[in-house]
Amino acid sequence: MSVTELGRPAFLANIDVQLEIYAAAMEANPDEVPSRRAIMERHSGNPGLRSLAAIEDGTGRIVGFAYGFRGVPGQWWHDVVWSGIVATAGQASAEAWLASALEIAEVHVHPEFQQRGIGRQMILMLTANRTESTAVLSTRDAKTPARHLYRQLGFADLLTRFQFPGGGPPYAVMGAPLPLSGAAGKPA
Ligand SMILES: CC(C)(COP(=O)(O)OP(=O)(O)OC[C@H]1O[C@@H](n2cnc3c(N)ncnc32)[C@H](O)[C@@H]1OP(=O)(O)O)[C@@H](O)C(=O)NCCC(=O)NCCS
Repeated sequence: MSVTELGRPAFLANIDVQLEIYAAAMEANPDEVPSRRAIMERHSGNPGLRSLAAIEDGTGRIVGFAYGFRGVPGQWWHDVVWSGIVATAGQASAEAWLASALEIAEVHVHPEFQQRGIGRQMILMLTANRTESTAVLSTRDAKTPARHLYRQLGFADLLTRFQFPGGGPPYAVMGAPLPLSGAAGKPA
C-alpha cells in the first residue's frame, strides 16, 4: 500500500472512486452521493488543498482517500463552526482554533482495507509540513474508530453533541495544534 498526493486535476478525475469509498465506509444512502460530489467539487477550489489517495500495490486500486485545505471565512463549515465555538467558548477560542487552521474535510478507508494503519498514515501526511497552526475536523459524536484515531493523534474536543444546520446526527468538532502531538507515537 502506498499513499500518494493527488493534484487538483487528479482529485477531480478520481471523484467517482472516492465517492464509492465514502459510501462504503460511511454506509451512506446512495441519495447522499450527488450532494457529496458537489461539496467535493467546491472544496477542490479551496486554498491549500492537499488530497491523498491510498493505492493498493499491484492493482493500482484506490482504497482510501483523505483531503483537507485551509479554512477561511466564507466557507460554510468554517463559519458554522466559528459561530459554535464563539457561542460556547468565546471569540478568543474561535480565533485560536480557526484563524490559521487546516480543515480536514474527509478521511475514509474502504472497509476491506481498514485497521491496517492507512487512516493514520493519511492523517499524518495531510498534517505534515503545513503553514497552519491547527488542524480541525468534525466527525460523528459517537464511539467510532475515527474518534479513537483522532484522539490518539492528539485531537481534543472543541464542541460535542454539535448540531450542524439542516439536521443530521450530533457531531464532535475536534482540533489539534500542529504539528500533531500524536505524530511521534507510531511510525506512519
Ligand atoms: C476512521 C478510518 C478512516 C480509520 O482508518 P483505518 O485505516 O482503519 O485506521 P488505522 O488502521 O490507521 O487505525 C488507527 C486506529 O484506529 C483503530 N481502529 C481502526 N478501525 C477500528 C475499528 N473498526 N474498531 C476499533 N478500532 C479501530 C485502530 O485499532 C488504530 O488504533 P490503535 O493504534 O490503538 O490500534 C476508517 O475506520 C473509516 O474509513 N471509517 C469510516 C469512515 C469514517 O468514519 N471516516 C471519518 C469521518 S470524519
